[in-house]
Amino acid sequence: MAKVMLDGLRKEFDQGVVAVAGLDLEIGDGEFVSLVGPSGCGKSTALRMIAGLEEPTGGRILFDGEDVTDLEPRDRDVAMVFQSYALYPHMTVRRNLEYGLRKRGVPAEERAERVAHISRMLHIEPFLERKPRQLSGGQRQRVALGRALIRDPRVFLLDEPLSNLDAKLRVHMRAELATLHRQVETTMVYVTHDQLEALTLSDRIIVMNHGEVQQIGTPEEVYTRPRNRFVAEFIGTPAMNLMEGRLTSEAGTPAFAADGLTVPLPPELASAASAERLLLGVRPEDVAIVAPDAPDGVAAEVVLDELAGAERFLYLTVGTTQLVARVAGGTAHAPGARVGFRLPPERLHLFDGTGEDAAALR
Ligand SMILES: Nc1ncnc2c1ncn2[C@@H]1O[C@H](COP(=O)(O)OP(=O)(O)O)[C@@H](O)[C@H]1O
Ligand SMILES: [Mg+2]
Repeated sequence: MAKVMLDGLRKEFDQGVVAVAGLDLEIGDGEFVSLVGPSGCGKSTALRMIAGLEEPTGGRILFDGEDVTDLEPRDRDVAMVFQSYALYPHMTVRRNLEYGLRKRGVPAEERAERVAHISRMLHIEPFLERKPRQLSGGQRQRVALGRALIRDPRVFLLDEPLSNLDAKLRVHMRAELATLHRQVETTMVYVTHDQLEALTLSDRIIVMNHGEVQQIGTPEEVYTRPRNRFVAEFIGTPAMNLMEGRLTSEAGTPAFAADGLTVPLPPELASAASAERLLLGVRPEDVAIVAPDAPDGVAAEVVLDELAGAERFLYLTVGTTQLVARVAGGTAHAPGARVGFRLPPERLHLFDGTGEDAAALR
């Protein structure tokens, strides 16, 4: 286990492609952090620099205070698992697991012990004498995790390890990975484009876009207090509703006006705004559905009512403004039905501007 420090870590490829623009991050001993962001935002490049597979063009990497920036991958004592978990096809699972230990001359008895321990933890004991092709995708992925973990690395790096699995298995392996992390307590850096994986697995999340860090925080912080429009939209599904409009005032109290609706704003929120055009944000689960004629509700039309098992997503329009409400069960609404909705003032997000980097005012 190790504490990892990234100090201004930067990677600029030829032709001036800045994959990672300068990453400052301290990862605690045994912490699970995720780098999350859309494809091409620099996640893998950052991870490969920590592994030593990619040479930084700026900044430093420290493990427990020791500068490892110029060390070869094998001298860093890190283990990495990729999306394509290339196992040796001609070797049994057991051989695959102990491959790294053999190469380093670990005695047979100790190898057998470690294989037994790891395969118990990952529930792959019954498959030890099989070849990879005789395993399911999930079993293979477990072997790949086991092969990396068996060395007891200081840092465990995972690059989209669940992306090749089908949806159900992915959810299952996600839970297993969380349990595994609790058991081994190794520092883990996890790369994913899947915001839900990042939210559910991590102690902390680093949201990236275009090579730049957008926000670092616990899943709860990032979800409840996104720093800017990009984070607000990227984290959470359905995405946060964002309505474009401007500040106004209603009977002396500040309000937000979008096409078709006016929403009273907490004064401290309104007074912090400086841009002409703003975005008002509200999570779908915070949109409260009320009767169409409820006194403090806004009347809207249902465009679509999607049943998603235990909950439903109501797509609403008022004027040209659209929003989604996430409601528990209840009865279906026909398209064109009238409903009312209320936006709780304490759940509103206001963004100063309309661009990706428009800052949240709280
Ligand atoms: N070897 C390379 N040469 C040039 N550009 C690269 C190379 N590897 C990655 N890039 C570019 O760097 C950016 C970040 O890539 P990557 O770290 O793989 O993103 P992610 O893992 O978030 O999808 C992308 O624009 C990608 O095209
Ligand atoms: Mg990648």
